[in-house]
Amino acid sequence: MEVVVADHAGFCFGVTKAVETVYNQLEKKKLNIYTFGPIIHNEIVVGDLEKKGVKVVEDPLELGDVEEGTVIIRSHGVTKEIQEQLSGTGLEIIDATCPFVKRIHRIVEEESAKGSSVIVIGSADHPEVQGIVSYAGGPVYVIDSPEKAEEFDGDKETGYTVVCQTTFNTNKFQETIEILSKNGYNINVVNTICNATDERQSEAEEISSKADVMIVIGGAHSSNSRKLYDICKRRCGKTYFIQTLEDLHLDMPDSAKLVGITAGASTPKNIIEEVQKYVRTNF
Ligand code: F3S
Repeated sequence: MEVVVADHAGFCFGVTKAVETVYNQLEKKKLNIYTFGPIIHNEIVVGDLEKKGVKVVEDPLELGDVEEGTVIIRSHGVTKEIQEQLSGTGLEIIDATCPFVKRIHRIVEEESAKGSSVIVIGSADHPEVQGIVSYAGGPVYVIDSPEKAEEFDGDKETGYTVVCQTTFNTNKFQETIEILSKNGYNINVVNTICNATDERQSEAEEISSKADVMIVIGGAHSSNSRKLYDICKRRCGKTYFIQTLEDLHLDMPDSAKLVGITAGASTPKNIIEEVQKYVRTNF
């Protein structure tokens, strides 16, 4: 039986940078290290950081009484308002927002300053999308699916700059913009889907089409991992979604010839290694 691990499995560039930033601060033995929201969607990494003294805050108000400390902003960024509130605390702020997300903030800010309305394709309740939306100085809309694009009832006289949540599914994004264009909206599309996601998704698609069993490793609350699972499940009925090796209860068919493994953007390398080793040695 062959085991194939996706080349593009696990931490992307932005998450690696954010996590390393926190560990670097710990090494410098800084007092009171905070992350604004969990640094990644992985309970194990967040748990390890907590054990080392890193605290997670969800609201700048929680920092009201803190006189000295460092706050790290995670890779998918925060809203403009939160950024300002954090700066107002007087604490050291380290912005580990991924440069690809920062680019979207800039596009939205600049295009809306020029008078364009903005459409963000993504989930309105995702912190990355909330951050992006906050940079629009004028009308801004969030559309999360082709169905919602059909229902969209905006002004057809105005121009729209369309950007996308970095982890959105490429096919769904294409479908959504096609509908907007077919329905007569004047759109200027900037495809801001991150390559890391694209590559991870197409590789998962390719491996799961051939695999008899597919294992997707990712945080239960990580939207990019769930999307990866959906992609694989559509092509391979025996797709498992796990967070760590302990969750894996493999029911391996005797006929299985190929097992594929991939992982979401917030899965540490050592977990991927562990799962791979387990499958190779036990089946
Ligand atoms: Fe950045 Fe792409 Fe990762 S936007 S955080 S490198 S998924």
